[in-house]
Amino acid sequence: MKVIEYTKYGSPEVLRINEITKPTPKDNEVLIKIIASTVTIVDITFRKGNSFFARLFTGAFKPKNAIPGGDLVGEVEAAGKNVTRFKKGDNVFGPTSDGLGAHAMYVCLPDDAALVLKPEKMTCDEAATASYGFLTALPFLRDEANIKSGQAILIIGASGCIGTFAVQIAKYYGAHITGVCSSENVDMVKSLGADRVIDYKKTDFKRTDEKYDVVFDTAGKSSFTQCRRLLKDTGIYLTPTISPTILLNMLLTSKSKGKRAKIAFTGLRSAADKANDLVFFNELWESNKVKPVIGNHFTFDQIVEAHTYVERGHKSGSVVITWNSGAETVKRERSSVRKKSELVMETR
Ligand SMILES: NC(=O)c1ccc[n+]([C@@H]2O[C@H](COP(=O)([O-])OP(=O)(O)OC[C@H]3O[C@@H](n4cnc5c(N)ncnc54)[C@H](OP(=O)(O)O)[C@@H]3O)[C@@H](O)[C@H]2O)c1
Repeated sequence: MKVIEYTKYGSPEVLRINEITKPTPKDNEVLIKIIASTVTIVDITFRKGNSFFARLFTGAFKPKNAIPGGDLVGEVEAAGKNVTRFKKGDNVFGPTSDGLGAHAMYVCLPDDAALVLKPEKMTCDEAATASYGFLTALPFLRDEANIKSGQAILIIGASGCIGTFAVQIAKYYGAHITGVCSSENVDMVKSLGADRVIDYKKTDFKRTDEKYDVVFDTAGKSSFTQCRRLLKDTGIYLTPTISPTILLNMLLTSKSKGKRAKIAFTGLRSAADKANDLVFFNELWESNKVKPVIGNHFTFDQIVEAHTYVERGHKSGSVVITWNSGAETVKRERSSVRKKSELVMETR
């Protein structure tokens, strides 16, 4: 089978398409034929190897797992004898267990991985966006910010992968949303539900007079110190972008009853929690509360172009990557929408 591989850290050109043996599922595993995945900033960080924090996961001197890719949409081709949640022919999506290994034609994942069934009418491209963008934005807003109806939120990087989901999730919870993005994306961010949009090319949001319950900098373009004056007295500053500064600010404000700074590591949550949230994604998608934004599409043969594009830092929404030029190769008649009770994993 074909896979994308890299055996040393570096520029997009370290990525190669190689041929390796197709894996065989163990008794507790499913073999998934991958249809779609995404290329994200995390793939770029892992491939470059220039982040100390990332190397803790990916390998100190060279990549531990040569195959990148943290999420997948695919079809179950075989299931081990102890697998109970899935069967051959199921269309599934979700993150891989360690944020790697999905840029391949096949992968084996355990029965209790964070996989869920794809609703029949959801496209593979749409499903591909959820495991990274939705599964990052939701825990930040729901669990860290405890976002409530009527609260004011500033979402910086509102046009990005996490940002486009953050706007729609904040809307679902009834918040008043101000988005920050570039001129090109103002209309798109408004269409997702932002009440107000600041074009960062024209206005410095840090110098505006509004006060917010939550500032969520999805793009890592600000600091707690810079945004402190934008927060209400008990406001919270959130960012998914790891840095020594945010870790220090979180430590210093953790016991505060006033303004606080927070980062979370959403990829480290349990598979059961992630799967339950993907079921929630399916519900929001089915009730038109969430509409994935797909900014660009590449095939795996174009992996170097895809990485180069994402690395520029100005993509809108998600970048989907597929083995075929059209993602919809899944046989729809074999896709089944099961009852919610069958989809939700037990939280262990
Ligand atoms: N902590 C965790 O568990 C976790 C999990 C996943 C990701 N992350 C981190 O989350 C971060 C964001 O990821 P992402 O995938 O959402 O990125 P992304 O899709 O590449 O989006 C970045 C967005 O930032 C916008 N942007 C660029 N410059 C800006 C500026 N000066 N002001 C405001 N917006 C600006 C871009 O919009 P324009 O084109 O409009 O400029 C782009 O849409 C990364 O640092 C990633 O490592 C953390």
